[in-house]
Amino acid sequence: MKTDYNKVFDSLCKSKSVKAHFNALNKIYLSTTDNKLKNFLNAALSNLLDPKYLKNSTPIPLSKSSLRCFVDLLEYCKAKNKTMFYRQSRDTFIRSIGEYGYIKSQLTKHDRTYTQEGQAFLEVLSREPQSLEELSIKACEYFEDVIPADIQNDMREFLDSLVADRYLVSGETAEECAAKDTYFSYAENPKTLFKYNAQQNPDDEKLYTDTQEVLGVHYREHPQIYSCQIETTNRCNEKCIHCYIPHELKNVVLPYEVIENILQQLHDLGTIGLTLSGGEFFLHPDAEKILRKARELDFSFTILSNITLLTSKMIGVLKEVNPALVQTSLYSINPEEHDHITQLKGSCEKTKAAIDTLIAANIPVQISCPVMKTNYHSYKDVLKYAYKRNCKAQTDYVMMARYDFTTDNLAERLTIEQTEDLLKDIIQFDKDYLDFTDTPIPPVSREEWGKRPFCGVGMDNLCIASDGIVYPCSGWQGMACGNVREQPIKDIWEKSPQLNMLRNLTKSAIPQCYDCEDKQYCAPCLVRNFNESGGDYLKVAPHFCKAAHLNRKLVEEAKAKMRKEKV
Ligand SMILES: C[S@@+](CC[C@H](N)C(=O)[O-])C[C@H]1O[C@@H](n2cnc3c(N)ncnc32)[C@H](O)[C@@H]1O
Ligand code: SF4
Ligand code: SF4
Repeated sequence: MKTDYNKVFDSLCKSKSVKAHFNALNKIYLSTTDNKLKNFLNAALSNLLDPKYLKNSTPIPLSKSSLRCFVDLLEYCKAKNKTMFYRQSRDTFIRSIGEYGYIKSQLTKHDRTYTQEGQAFLEVLSREPQSLEELSIKACEYFEDVIPADIQNDMREFLDSLVADRYLVSGETAEECAAKDTYFSYAENPKTLFKYNAQQNPDDEKLYTDTQEVLGVHYREHPQIYSCQIETTNRCNEKCIHCYIPHELKNVVLPYEVIENILQQLHDLGTIGLTLSGGEFFLHPDAEKILRKARELDFSFTILSNITLLTSKMIGVLKEVNPALVQTSLYSINPEEHDHITQLKGSCEKTKAAIDTLIAANIPVQISCPVMKTNYHSYKDVLKYAYKRNCKAQTDYVMMARYDFTTDNLAERLTIEQTEDLLKDIIQFDKDYLDFTDTPIPPVSREEWGKRPFCGVGMDNLCIASDGIVYPCSGWQGMACGNVREQPIKDIWEKSPQLNMLRNLTKSAIPQCYDCEDKQYCAPCLVRNFNESGGDYLKVAPHFCKAAHLNRKLVEEAKAKMRKEKV
């Protein structure tokens, strides 16, 4: 039974006699499950039980002691009744994904899915403060034969739990909500806030479901563009020796009008995540307009950039538009090495200075440090550099060939011996890596494994190149699925033969993987296969199989060592 604090409030204020008070409060006492309220009522009722007050129609005033109880009771109910306004935090995004209501915080990186009542409650929230009463009236439209009073308590509990986890802010005024809103800060949001996304299943407190896993199952049946990467221009001021974009093709800019149209279509399709990339994003003549449009259309967006061209004016714009992340590439803290990779003298100092400017402005920045022959001995200094600044850094050692099938950039790829040393370092220093590979995988029959989807291609994300061509994954410009200048994105997403074929691809597509003992340690990638083999996405380069074998061997050795140490 839900407690109606309004009723207590009313009966205290409006009842004309002690007997009426007694009867009204007693009724509430018997029905409420709020123990604190029960205590207050108990005190008030014991006072009223004095026979001298219980005579028929004894008029108010009451005795001093019962008045004291009534004041306490009133205070309690008033606190429970005060008008609360709720709104989304600046860093929170809400979407409808099929039967799920979805909420995500780009600050904490946590997300949740809800169905039924929870989905309806999410639907009525917005960035404007709304009172609980307003919200419950709107939510009633999602149900039949329900009045706002029926759902107000459930809704309050729901909203308060989202406030506790920083998805929402609440307050008695709009100003209070604004004052409580979230802001990324290097002092307050250490990188440890970026935790694994886990959602508690209300049916079993011990069971945790990964939101992305729930959605993954949904997307398999109902593909929907959750996130999209846009190569706003492929022009670049650097000429990185490993870059998968052929340098001689880097002269195309996607006009602002086309980008604006793309953003509007993605917004209408319910897309939440956007990656604004290049070439060099800040070389786009309308970079600021693009950022402002992305904010206006409520995307959670990441910018990939070498940040050498970042101006103080743009820092101000970034503060306003609140990106989820600015990701930048820093290959070495040694200018000679970094500039050798980027082929741009002075780029290391510029990127490092811009990293510090972003940190000082409390704009979240992440360092990406692909490891190759040139920075193989010094990448750890980049990790230390990031650690000192409390900012996230990630390495990657699997380089891919260019999308015009020229493979000379792979001369920079680590040899298999270097890969072994790198993996040993990762296993030793990255606890998450061992934990992740240590997660027991339930046994699955050969046949069942073969029926599993190959990867998430075509399920929930898409890329658009600077010439308007749509392709399935980053770097797969050779797999054209349509052009946004000629067809609506929705049509391409639903009807492209290439996307439909890729969606139906299963693990069985590469027969050599069926009985491979290393498959648990391998993530075969269609784009890498395609670019390296001259266009066959099912042809695995021997390098990847050797790396997977190494991965397995080293992880197993590390686990055996750990077991021995425990004994
Ligand atoms: C294509 S760049 C675009 C954004 C920006 N220009 C930058 O360099 O950060 C995005 C990321 O891809 C990485 N990258 C470039 N070529 C690559 C390749 N062949 N294999 C793997 N990653 C590559 C870059 O190092 C960079 O971290
Ligand atoms: S800065 Fe980025 S896009 Fe430019 S050459 Fe380097 S990796 Fe390629
Ligand atoms: S190691 Fe090679 S054969 Fe084995 S699963 Fe990976 S790609 Fe397939």
